Amino acid sequence: MKADPSPRPKILILVSGEGSNLQALIEASRERDYPADIVAVGSNQAKAPALAKAAHANIPTFVIEHGRYGSRDEFDGALMQEIRRHNPDLIVLAGFMRILTEGFVRALRGQLLNIHPSLLPKYTGLNTHQRALDAGDKVHGVSVHFVTEELDGGPIVAQAQIAVGPDDSAETLAQKVQAQEHVLYPIVVRWCCEGRVQLGAERVLFDGQALRQPVVLPAN
Ligand code: GRF
Repeated sequence: MKADPSPRPKILILVSGEGSNLQALIEASRERDYPADIVAVGSNQAKAPALAKAAHANIPTFVIEHGRYGSRDEFDGALMQEIRRHNPDLIVLAGFMRILTEGFVRALRGQLLNIHPSLLPKYTGLNTHQRALDAGDKVHGVSVHFVTEELDGGPIVAQAQIAVGPDDSAETLAQKVQAQEHVLYPIVVRWCCEGRVQLGAERVLFDGQALRQPVVLPAN
């Protein structure tokens, strides 16, 4: 008999909304060679449709409603307790609409990934599609980055681009960008779980080498 294989990395996913990225990650994690297991899904919104998607996939869920906590520190403390209980290797923010405190982010340095619907460093924050249109951008897209104390400002692992056409609206851009998100996020999560991608002192390390530019996924 073979010796025990090393334990598979554990992923915990945080959501607030629809959960289309969660669904893409669930489907990827079911592929035979996917190197990790989703051990829990947590939300700050009890009614987030994403929670039903997790339940449907038999993934344990938890809810920490931010309205019940007097401060960001208390909310983050409760969230940290749940995270510690599941002991994940990687925490994946997938449409998690809460700003996390500096202490929380520092304690989980290198373990927190986020997906943001713009080609960072352009358009941190909200309304990214409209802002790309207003600026007349011909190329728009999505970024996956490590979370640091700076909002949407942590080192970027990878991006996927879309072309902006003359007939695009914020809604059509959102659809096109989301389709790319569903391809990009499972790939980056895979790289992290395989140990290929790590957060170094200042930059992302890819196969041990500091990344000078984000990896850009070829358009599909
Ligand atoms: C995505 O557009 C993601 O880029 C942003 O929030 C949205 C989440 O969508 N951070 P969903 O809940 O995964 O459908």
